Amino acid sequence: MSLSRLAFALTLLGLTTAQSSSVSANSTATSTTYANPDVPTGTPVAGNYAGRYRPQVHFSVPKYFMNDPNGLFVDSNGTWHMYYQYNPTDYVAGNQHWGHATSDDLYHWVNQPIAIFPPAEDVFVFSGSVVVDTNNTSGFFPNQDNGVVAIYTLAEYPDGQPGPQTQAIAYSYDDGYTFIPYEGNPVIPSNSSQFRDPKVIWYEDHWVMVIAYAQEFAIGIFTSPNLIDWTPQSNFSYHGLLGLQYECPNLVSLPYVDESGERQEDVWAMFISINPGAPLGGSISEYYPGTFNGTHFEAFDAAARIADFGKDNYAGQFFYGVPEEEYPVFIAWASNWQYTQVVPTAEEQWRSAMSLPRQTYLTQVDRLGWKLVTQPYDMSPVMGNVIASNDSFANATLSVDYSQVASNALYWEVNVTGIPETGVPATSTLNFTFLSPLTGEYVSGGYYFGGDTPFFINRGGARGFDNVFFTDKFSTNSLRDDSSWSMSGVIDRSMLEVFIDGGVESATNVFYSTQPLTLLVLGAANFPEGMEASVRVNALESAWADQEDEDGLVLGNVTNPDTGSIKVRNMFDHA
Ligand code: FRU
Repeated sequence: MSLSRLAFALTLLGLTTAQSSSVSANSTATSTTYANPDVPTGTPVAGNYAGRYRPQVHFSVPKYFMNDPNGLFVDSNGTWHMYYQYNPTDYVAGNQHWGHATSDDLYHWVNQPIAIFPPAEDVFVFSGSVVVDTNNTSGFFPNQDNGVVAIYTLAEYPDGQPGPQTQAIAYSYDDGYTFIPYEGNPVIPSNSSQFRDPKVIWYEDHWVMVIAYAQEFAIGIFTSPNLIDWTPQSNFSYHGLLGLQYECPNLVSLPYVDESGERQEDVWAMFISINPGAPLGGSISEYYPGTFNGTHFEAFDAAARIADFGKDNYAGQFFYGVPEEEYPVFIAWASNWQYTQVVPTAEEQWRSAMSLPRQTYLTQVDRLGWKLVTQPYDMSPVMGNVIASNDSFANATLSVDYSQVASNALYWEVNVTGIPETGVPATSTLNFTFLSPLTGEYVSGGYYFGGDTPFFINRGGARGFDNVFFTDKFSTNSLRDDSSWSMSGVIDRSMLEVFIDGGVESATNVFYSTQPLTLLVLGAANFPEGMEASVRVNALESAWADQEDEDGLVLGNVTNPDTGSIKVRNMFDHA
């Protein structure tokens, strides 16, 4: 492990000393661009998407290592952009750049050339966000109303040791394909090695940034009229589970859909990722519904609410630019720092995928109050044939052989009705098992309708990876307040995402079986009289197969002449 990688890993593990988070002006100027000779510029990295671990409806990195989604935004043509923390030279974190992919539907992604390079060899481009500066508040865009600005952390590693983390911006005239670093960077200088992950939104008449003072357990709220001059306004500190660091905050206005399904006035929510030291081990995300007045955020209550009860949903981000009448869309990194750098997908020359794109809103549930609801974004672009269905499924098993589904990926949905108010036996259950008939490997999950109504997921039956931190059983207890219950999910080669009761609970988990799982067994047992389920299973269509060339490689966007070079100019070059 190189010195800088070691230092980087230590930083991520929270093992460096927190320095002062005060803002000072002594950091390196950072408007140049450095491209390591091993890092491709102006052309996307090709990837092989055929491996048995390779998700087919999820985004995964073409080659090498990916972590957090960065700069999620919708451009002026309606194209979804996703940047991501990218090490283009190795299968572990380090040498961070912003990788880039675009999509028209959030499932079919086109790999683009790396979008943001570091300013110097010993500086990494850490996480951040992107906005569209429609009104040219920055002055970068005198001739257009679709100028794009990226706001990100530059993490300096002088002599391989963690140095200052400062906040920089870069602007793009071409909808976010190429960026020009601002010559006045950093826009927020700092001496702290623990000050990162700016996420910017527009609030009424100014920009708002939330950013983590990682080891002080504080989220700073800054404001700016122009994306260049930033003023610290308040801190949101010591809330919820702390773990050892706060990272990747989001402040978002979410639709509130009440118990009767009516959309009410939006409600603000602060999202904070914590790592390491989450209760499940490693990395998780928490959220706090509350109020925001343009400078200060206050949580409604003191509860710590966890966004996803699986172990592989971290550093998620909301897209900038989704129209207000639509549900905000969220994508998370589907991994966990505890084991992400040793998972077996490196055999296939890649490490890490993103979660499904999720539509999100808040609701209120019995006893608990505020609750985040997440559901997969419209899956019709990848939805395939119904391969099994049953409208009156009870006290039976249903086996679905999906070995003929080319993608090896499925969507399934179960709706249970007629659940009696009382007297449901604790053994009354609906469960699923995905199996390899060849090796007996499996992943499973299920719900118990009686007792404390627990739901479990077990990835321990897959034997392709073993690691002390790769814990394999998860459960949650969700309250049911009427006579119906539902579950849906996606299994995608090495990824399992489950949504309970319309998405009031969700779990994202990776798993690694030595052979493909090709048989689904659904079981419904001890259902009382009158209770029954309707079940539907769909094949999913690969979003990647169509992009493969004759060598099985997905090349990405190599044809766009606009993406052919890294441009390093200053803001005054744009006539
Ligand atoms: C979260 C994180 C961020 C940081 C990035 C570095 O996973 O540690 O805090 O910006 O990853 O890759």
